[in-house]
Amino acid sequence: MIILLLGAPGSGKGTQAKQLVEELKIPQLSTGDMLRSAVKAGTPLGKEAESYMKKGALVPDSLVLGLITERIQKEDCKSGFILDGFPRNRSQADALGAIFTKFGKKLDCVIAMEVAQNELVERLCGRRTCQNCGQGFHVKFQPPKTEGVCDKCSGKLTQRPDDNEKVILDRLKVYQADTSPLLEYYKSKGLVKEIEAGKGSPQDIFKKILAVIK
Ligand code: AP5
Repeated sequence: MIILLLGAPGSGKGTQAKQLVEELKIPQLSTGDMLRSAVKAGTPLGKEAESYMKKGALVPDSLVLGLITERIQKEDCKSGFILDGFPRNRSQADALGAIFTKFGKKLDCVIAMEVAQNELVERLCGRRTCQNCGQGFHVKFQPPKTEGVCDKCSGKLTQRPDDNEKVILDRLKVYQADTSPLLEYYKSKGLVKEIEAGKGSPQDIFKKILAVIK
């Protein structure tokens, strides 16, 4: 099964993708995570991407398309995957369609996750991530047992550099301008399942997602 999670920054795409990975035994393909790894590793791609990510702007399509094309061809994607944060604009969506045609794949469903803007800002400002295992937390909604320490592996919890209010507002503007039109694009293909993802715990939202994909 190939699932696309479509939603604004902070709508819970990463949180839900991780639960879907466990439930469906297919990998999460997050272009944000791939880019952050490249930045951390200091690769030429990472160095180029970093300046865009710091500002909350989209990284050029040419960089992202290479990453996703390579990833989709890996063995673990044979039974399907969860797209998280890709595509981000119409040209990436068209490119994804072409990649799928080339490799004989088909998108099964687009989960559109709706959350009000004030909730998005609060979620992103309070997000913390384990620098060791990647487990996500939130200072208010999903606090760790010990402040600053991962419950799973005792790693240090850190805040993403683009999770500050100024950059968050810029990311939300980019989402409205470039990414939100994809909702109509995929609706016209009959693929969209809309989920109210602003109210309820991550578990509640996960149940709603399972109900629409099963
Ligand atoms: P990316 O990493 O994709 O970030 P994003 O889209 O901004 O989304 P986030 O990861 O911030 O949010 P999320 O929806 O995953 O929320 P989460 O589950 O963590 O992209 C970062 C940057 O990389 C971009 O700005 C761009 O520069 C570049 N980039 C990436 N992909 C690109 C592409 N395809 N093309 C070009 N550039 C690209 O949840 C957020 C918080 O809320 C967490 O703390 C969580 O615990 C909490 N939470 C989740 N669900 C709930 C709930 N139900 N109730 C309460 N709290 C909740």
